[in-house]
Amino acid sequence: MSEIESLKKIEDELIELSESTNNIIQKANTENELDEIRISILGKKGKLSNILKNMGRLSSEERPIIGQKANILKIQLQDLISQRKNKIIEEVLEMQIANERLDVTISPLGTPLGKKHPLISTQEEIIDIFCGLGYSVENGPEIESDFYNFESLNIPKDHPARDMQDTFYINNNLLLRTHTSPVQVRYLEDNPPPTRIIAPGRVYRRDAVDATHSPVFNQVEVLCLDEGIDFSHLRGTVLTFLKTFFGDLPVRFRASYFPFTEPSAEVDVQWKGKWLEVMGCGMVDPMVLEKLGIDSERWTGFAAGLGVERFCMVKHQIDDIRRFYSNDLRFLEQF
Ligand code: DAH
Repeated sequence: MSEIESLKKIEDELIELSESTNNIIQKANTENELDEIRISILGKKGKLSNILKNMGRLSSEERPIIGQKANILKIQLQDLISQRKNKIIEEVLEMQIANERLDVTISPLGTPLGKKHPLISTQEEIIDIFCGLGYSVENGPEIESDFYNFESLNIPKDHPARDMQDTFYINNNLLLRTHTSPVQVRYLEDNPPPTRIIAPGRVYRRDAVDATHSPVFNQVEVLCLDEGIDFSHLRGTVLTFLKTFFGDLPVRFRASYFPFTEPSAEVDVQWKGKWLEVMGCGMVDPMVLEKLGIDSERWTGFAAGLGVERFCMVKHQIDDIRRFYSNDLRFLEQF
């Protein structure tokens, strides 16, 4: 190859390098990518060095010409690379700023507030109504003795009524109370009549679980003892309570039996087109009072035990008692 041809070839190669690399540099998206490109063009073993290897073929006059051109190209490429680098840094920064920008106009998410469980609200509502009628709230233990849960309420050991309330026994004498009625006895032991109390609380039974039965549920016990109290007071109080709690809802009193009341009744309300028992009630049996040393000729009264879950189910059209204990937020958030 003649020297003229060599010169021309190297010059062409430099022009071609300049043209081809421009595009590659502009396409680099990261500083690392750009650095690799720089090394591949301007590094010791890069494309430019590769072209200049052939300078040995040139005459001593031609060499500075190519040297100058190569230098200009090198400076141009370095400029391009550093411009692109600045651009990349700028773009990265802009992206970062865009990503980190706070939209102060977005409405706050808010902290979800806890709510009362529907059973608590129902219990509170029942308490409120009776407090409005002059009753005060009393409590008793959930671990109860056989005496308070049964004996004192006229339910001796072999009494069939014990079958009505299948019991969780702790030992021969201790059990989980099956109803709130023992609070009546505990209260009357310490407080002479007249009496107007209610006693809300959990009770336990070895019932088979279904849509209306749970082994743990809540009752509110009611006890009214005074001179001259008869069944009409029981009826009036229960109906007033039901009307205040439910509004207008079909109600029926059904004759029943409890060992500690005589006469006794169960109260049903309409639920899902059927009658559902929501409370037991009756006139306090004189036997219960006499055992406590209370003169049953002078003091008469009525008592009732309300099933809180059932009141809540009827009021809110809840189809299954198990929903109260499943902690499903989709259910609980409706209240
Ligand atoms: N203790 C009864 C039960 O759990 C309900 C009951 C009935 C309570 C009559 C009373 C009452 O106070 O008078 O099944």
